[in-house]
Amino acid sequence: MTTASTGKTALQQRVDAFASDVIGRINQAIIDHKMTYEEYDAVKQWLIRVGEAGEWPLFLDVWVEHTVEELAAHSRHGSQTTILGPYHLPGTKELASPATLPMRPDEPGDRLVLRGQVRSLDDRPIPGAALDMWQADANGYYSGFHPDAPEGNLRGKVTADDQGRFEVETVIPGPYTIPLEGPCGELCRAAGWSPWRPGHLHLIVGGPGHDPITTQLFFQGGEYLDNDVASAVKPELILSPTEEGGDGSGRRRYGVTYDFVLEPATAT
Ligand code: BEZ
Ligand code: FE
Repeated sequence: MTTASTGKTALQQRVDAFASDVIGRINQAIIDHKMTYEEYDAVKQWLIRVGEAGEWPLFLDVWVEHTVEELAAHSRHGSQTTILGPYHLPGTKELASPATLPMRPDEPGDRLVLRGQVRSLDDRPIPGAALDMWQADANGYYSGFHPDAPEGNLRGKVTADDQGRFEVETVIPGPYTIPLEGPCGELCRAAGWSPWRPGHLHLIVGGPGHDPITTQLFFQGGEYLDNDVASAVKPELILSPTEEGGDGSGRRRYGVTYDFVLEPATAT
C-alpha cells in the first residue's frame, strides 16, 4: 500500500529514512574529520577488500550486531541475551543431558560442568528444552573455522530432562582474536584497537512453546571482559565457576549453575 503524499510504500519510506540517515551521517563525518581524497581512496580500497575477503559478516557481527541485539533485548523479559556472532553451525551432534560436548581425547583446557534448569517466565520447568552450544577451544579456535580444531569439536545440541534440567561438561574456552590477517584485523591495527574477545560459551536455548534465546556466557576474571572487540559482554552473563577437584590429569575441574528463563512463543 502506498501513501498518497509520497507515492512510496511503508517499506520504501523506512528504507528511504534509514539509508538517507546513514549516508548523511557518513558525509557529515567526512566533513567533521576533513577527509582528504587520499583517505577517501584508501577507505574505498579497504571496503572493496572487506568484500573480496568475505569479511562483511565478520565486520557486521563485530561492530554492529551488538546494537541491534541491545535494541531487541529491551522488549524481552526472559534471560539476558547477546549477539549470535559468525560461528554458529546448524545440525551439530544431538546429545541428552547429562552430556559431554564432543572433544579430542587430549582436549586442552580446564574442564567445566555447566548445570541448570530451563524455565518459563512463570517459573515452570520446560520439559524438552534444548541448548545448542558452540565455543572456541582453550586456544581460541572454533571448529569448522580453524584447521587445528576437528570438525564438530566443542559443538552440540543438548536436550534437557523432563524437568528442563541440564548438565553439560565442556572445557573453559580461551580468549579469541578476530582474524588478524584480513581487512578487519587491518582496521584494528590501523586504529590501535584490541582485536580480542573474552573467552565465552555460545548458546541458543529453546523449548517447546517458547521463543528461543541467543546468548553467551563469560567468565569472571577472564581477560578482555572490559574490552570485548564485539561489545557483547553483559554483567548478567558472567559466570563464577567454583573448583570441584581435578580429574587426575593435571587439569582443573570447575562447576557452575546457570538457569535460563524463556518467554512464551510469540504468535506469528
Ligand atoms: C564470536 O562470538 O566469536 C564473535 C562474535 C562477533 C564477531 C566475531 C566473533
Ligand atoms: Fe564466539
